[in-house]
Amino acid sequence: MFELVYCSAATRGMTALDLQNLLEVSRRNNALLDVTGILIYSERTREFIQLLEGEKDCVEQLMLTIAADERHTSVDVMYRGGITDRSFKDWSMAFRQFEELDPELIEGYTTFNADSLSASTCGGKETRARTILSALSKEL
Ligand SMILES: Cc1cc2nc3c(=O)[nH]c(=O)nc-3n(C[C@H](O)[C@H](O)[C@H](O)COP(=O)(O)O)c2cc1C
Repeated sequence: MFELVYCSAATRGMTALDLQNLLEVSRRNNALLDVTGILIYSERTREFIQLLEGEKDCVEQLMLTIAADERHTSVDVMYRGGITDRSFKDWSMAFRQFEELDPELIEGYTTFNADSLSASTCGGKETRARTILSALSKEL
């Protein structure tokens, strides 16, 4: 089993209907691919964070499709690697609005320009993303 987490920036602000359509298609496709995960969207910064988990080939193939999607840009894979268990096994794609998360959880997680970051800052962001995702996986 394999997981991948990326962040990206929406090209335009996503409306509730945009998100609903995106999730509908994602859930249908992911169920067929046996891919699970969670998508987080920040209305304020227009940033996405998504975790995808499943068979490595399925996840990597899906990531190529997602990365080419014109609804977002600056797609930056924060980490990928093997896992023993899924964190979101009951969710073809869970969804959370970033602003609705526990403020303590998201403290310090801010939008960024990937190109201007040093490796250490990237690591910091990765750690914060992991903290958020791991807390959410216990909540769902
Ligand atoms: C932020 C973001 C996350 C997405 N996540 C998924 C996903 O988890 N699964 C999926 O199938 N498509 C996802 N998509 C949509 C794909 O890029 C693509 O539009 C879709 O897979 C095409 O499906 P279709 O060929 O069935 O129309 C995502 C798109 C964006 C912008």
